[in-house]
Amino acid sequence: MTNHTPSPLSAPPSGALRGVFSPPGDKSVSHRAVMFAAMASGRSDLTGLLEGEDVLATLKAVQAMGAETERTGDGAWRVTGAPPWRGPAQDIDLGNSGTSARLLAGAIAGMGVQARLTGDDSLRARPMERVAAPLRLMGAALETTDGRLPMTIRGARLRGVDYETPVASAQIKSAVLLAGLGAEGVTRVTEPAPSRDHTERMLPAFGGEVRVSGLTAEVTGGQRLSPANYAAPADPSSAAFALAAALITPGSRVTARGVLLNPRRAGLFEAWKRMGADLTIEVTKNDGEPVGDLIAACSDLAPIHVREDEIPAMIDEIPILAVTAAFAEGESRFEGLAELRVKESDRLTAVSDLLRAAGVETETGEDWLTVAGRGTGGVTGGGAAAARGDHRIAMSTLILGLASRKGMAIDDASMIATSYPAFQADLAALGAALETP
Ligand code: S3P
Repeated sequence: MTNHTPSPLSAPPSGALRGVFSPPGDKSVSHRAVMFAAMASGRSDLTGLLEGEDVLATLKAVQAMGAETERTGDGAWRVTGAPPWRGPAQDIDLGNSGTSARLLAGAIAGMGVQARLTGDDSLRARPMERVAAPLRLMGAALETTDGRLPMTIRGARLRGVDYETPVASAQIKSAVLLAGLGAEGVTRVTEPAPSRDHTERMLPAFGGEVRVSGLTAEVTGGQRLSPANYAAPADPSSAAFALAAALITPGSRVTARGVLLNPRRAGLFEAWKRMGADLTIEVTKNDGEPVGDLIAACSDLAPIHVREDEIPAMIDEIPILAVTAAFAEGESRFEGLAELRVKESDRLTAVSDLLRAAGVETETGEDWLTVAGRGTGGVTGGGAAAARGDHRIAMSTLILGLASRKGMAIDDASMIATSYPAFQADLAALGAALETP
């Protein structure tokens, strides 16, 4: 999993995309379902899971720490937890997955065991002190490699802390809360802006008690989780790609079914609406997490100004939002993008470079981006972009290619399998063919 053989892929200009598709299971929810089940004593049946490499990395990691995992069907896994975990002798390789590394660091610290986490080139370049620091305050010993992976975690008898995170990050918040489940006393995390709240919403389903007040979440230590049957909804971050293709490719109309509509994940859809997108959202279910269908049709888009406080609710969607902005009539501006620089790649540079390779003018600063939109049918394309080990940059480039006049190519599509193994198949079923050059 650690280093892929490059597999180039190109997106020629496409005709209309039409039809209905079911995006893969939500990545954030799938990771948490597997981890919480592994932390619980007994058998959980999980369905709708994303079977991308990132979640498979989490499944392997919990196996290494003593949980049993069994695939019982498509996206269906039985996980039998056996807390307390055991510390594996071998390094745990988490591939490309930042969520696995950061959340597991918290869970491992709280279980009081020792493990060494590592990952692929992209993951080994990402900051880990942001979780190591609060876990140390709780009494765990963590050693990073210049602030990054490989990272050794030595759990201990932890004590609760009152921690203010400097960045709005669900990964930091979740790591501290998971460690707090095993700590003495109360653990409290306050963030500067609301990040995704799946940990807080899902822990109660596994018998955990979390109290939330404004920007603060807290748990009392000494809690034991219980097994649960949990169904993961489809991933809005993955649904975004074919929906974007529909918005910018003339004649298109596409429906994504069963998508997670948690408000802290729905910033992209709100942004598209502000741009004048023909996007219909129908909530079909609301137990624990709101879920529904999204219908997108090709639209004349207006440019958008996105401000810093809006970013956490669309943190993973900026690349595909910037691609749709390239098809709007006029200049869009995005502010407060500092966190984009420490994702699977430096996404601020990557998205600017991919747009420029397609003939779209951009400007960037330390934490902002402008995109000079060229209107429907106005993007030339014809270029190639480096995927930089980043699934969302790869998929965003290909979607732009489909709607451009000359298409786009990427040097390596292999990492798309981390979050969306059926990406190419789903697009093909909607009428858009990607090609291996
Ligand atoms: C995630 C949180 C986000 C997001 C990532 C998944 C999670 O990261 O970018 O893809 O599942 O908690 P941050 O919370 O660090 O911004």
